[in-house]
Amino acid sequence: MTRSSERSVSVWEGTGGPQPELAPLREDVRADVCVVGAGIAGMSVAYHLAKEGRRVVVLDDNAVGGGETGQTTAHLSSALDDRYQVLEEVHGRDGARLAYESHQAAIERVGEIARTEGIDCDYVPLDGYLFLGPEHGPELLDRELAAAHRAGFTDVERLPRAPGAPFDTGPCLRFPRQARFHPLEFVAGLVRAVQAAGGRVFTGTHVSEVEGGAEPSVRTDDGLTVRAGAVVVATNSPISDRVSIHTKQAPYRTFVVGATVPPGSVKDALYWDTREMYHYVRLQRTPGGEEVLIVGGEDHKTGHADDAQARYARLEAWARERFPVQEVRWRWSGQVMEPADYMAFIGRDPGTGMENVYVVTGDSGHGMTHGVIAGMLIRDLVLGRDNPWASLYDPARVTLSVDSVREFLKENLDVAVQYTDWVRGGEVGSAEQIAPGTGAVLQRGGQKVAAYRDEAGTLHERSATCTHLGCVVSWNTEERSWDCPCHGSRFAPTGEVLNGPAPTPLRHVEGGVH
Ligand code: FES
Repeated sequence: MTRSSERSVSVWEGTGGPQPELAPLREDVRADVCVVGAGIAGMSVAYHLAKEGRRVVVLDDNAVGGGETGQTTAHLSSALDDRYQVLEEVHGRDGARLAYESHQAAIERVGEIARTEGIDCDYVPLDGYLFLGPEHGPELLDRELAAAHRAGFTDVERLPRAPGAPFDTGPCLRFPRQARFHPLEFVAGLVRAVQAAGGRVFTGTHVSEVEGGAEPSVRTDDGLTVRAGAVVVATNSPISDRVSIHTKQAPYRTFVVGATVPPGSVKDALYWDTREMYHYVRLQRTPGGEEVLIVGGEDHKTGHADDAQARYARLEAWARERFPVQEVRWRWSGQVMEPADYMAFIGRDPGTGMENVYVVTGDSGHGMTHGVIAGMLIRDLVLGRDNPWASLYDPARVTLSVDSVREFLKENLDVAVQYTDWVRGGEVGSAEQIAPGTGAVLQRGGQKVAAYRDEAGTLHERSATCTHLGCVVSWNTEERSWDCPCHGSRFAPTGEVLNGPAPTPLRHVEGGVH
C-alpha cells in the first residue's frame, strides 16, 4: 500500500486572522433554538435567529468551520453548476427562477452581513466565466444563456472569450454579480455577531442524538442535554435523519490545488468549464501579498477510489496548461453532497417524530450560497413566516422528472452494490501487510475489520461496518480516514466520526487490538 507523507492543507489555514476561542458544553442548557454544526450553514442560521432576538445555542464537535466549510473553495455563485437548462426541466420555470433568486440573494447577503458586522473576510464581487470542456459544443452555451435569461438572470451575456484569462477560453458566458470570500473569516465573524446578540457557541461537543417533539432536544456524547423550541441540524450530512434524505443524495470527494501565480497575471474572476466533473478556478491573496490560483475538480464518489495523488497531478497539469503557475503549495480535498434533483434540502426534517427539527444538507457544490440561503429560510420557518423558497428546498419534496428519477435510481443501485462488499474478501490477507500510517480492510471469519497501523507501528482494529446503515468502509490513503461508499460517513483511523450521517464511532472488534 502507498503512504501519503504530507498532510493535505487548505489555503484557508493560516491565511486568516485568529479564530474564536470556544469551549465545550459543560452543563445542560435550554434555548429557543439549538443549532448542531458551526459551519457556514449552522452559523448563518444561528446569526439570522439571534438577530431576531432568539436565544441560540450552537454545538460542534470540531472547531468553527472545521468541517466542510474549511475545505471549500468558497465560490459565491448563482451560475448554478447543474445548469439552468437542467433545473428548468426538473423544477419547472418557476423553480429555476427561485433557484436563481435565492442564490443571488445569498451572494448579496454575505456582502451585507460583512459590511454590517464589520467582518473583514475579503468579500469581492466579480464576474464568473463558463467556458466549454472538450466534449461540448457552443450550442450548450446558447441553451444555457437562454435558460438563465428565462430564470431572470437577464444580464448574463455570451462573449467570444473570457477577458483577462491568460489562455483562450473560446466562447463563454459571463455571469455578473458573483463573489468570492474567505470562508473561515466569515464564519468567525458570524460567531462574534451571534455572541454579541446573546447567543452561545460551543465546540468540542459531539451530538449523538437528536429528538423531535414539542420540545425537541439534543444529547451529547458526555450525556448533556440541550432542550429548545427548535433544533437545526446543519452537519453537512444530517445525523438526525437515518434514511429518507440519504436515499436522495450521494457523497462525492472533490480535489483542490492552490498554486502561486505572478500578481496581476490572471484577472480576478471565477472560472468554470462545462465538463461533467468540471474544473472550478478562483484567486485568493495571502496576507503576505502572494496571489494564489485555486483550482478544483477531479471528483469521485466517496469511498470508490483511492488515487488522490493522481487526481492532484491531473489538476496541476490542467492548471499549468492554462495559467502561469509558479509553485503548487496547497492540496486538499472536500466532500460534496449531490441531491438527485440538484437542489439542497433545507427545511423541516421529514423523518417520523421529528417535529420542530430542521435540516440543511445537499450542498450540490454550492455549499456557501446554500448555507446562507438556509440562514434566511430556516429563520422564516422557525418564526412562522412565509418564504418563497420553502417548497423548492423542502426536504420532503418528491421530484418526478425523468432526470431526477434516473439519478435517484442510479445512486441507490450503487448503494445496493456496496452491500455486496460483505461477500468479497478483505483488501489484504493479513495485518502484517499493512505499512505504518496506512489502513486496510481484513476479513476475519465472518467479520470485516478496519485495521490501521499508526506511525509507531501499533495496530488499531475496529469493525469495518459503518455505524449508519452497515456498508463496509474503505481506507482513504490521502486523508487517512475510513470512508463509507454508501452515504459518505467518514471516520478517523481509530474509528471516531469525522462526518455524518453515522452517529457513533466504528465499533470495537471482539478480540481485536486497541
Ligand atoms: Fe450510510 Fe455508511 S453512511 S451506511
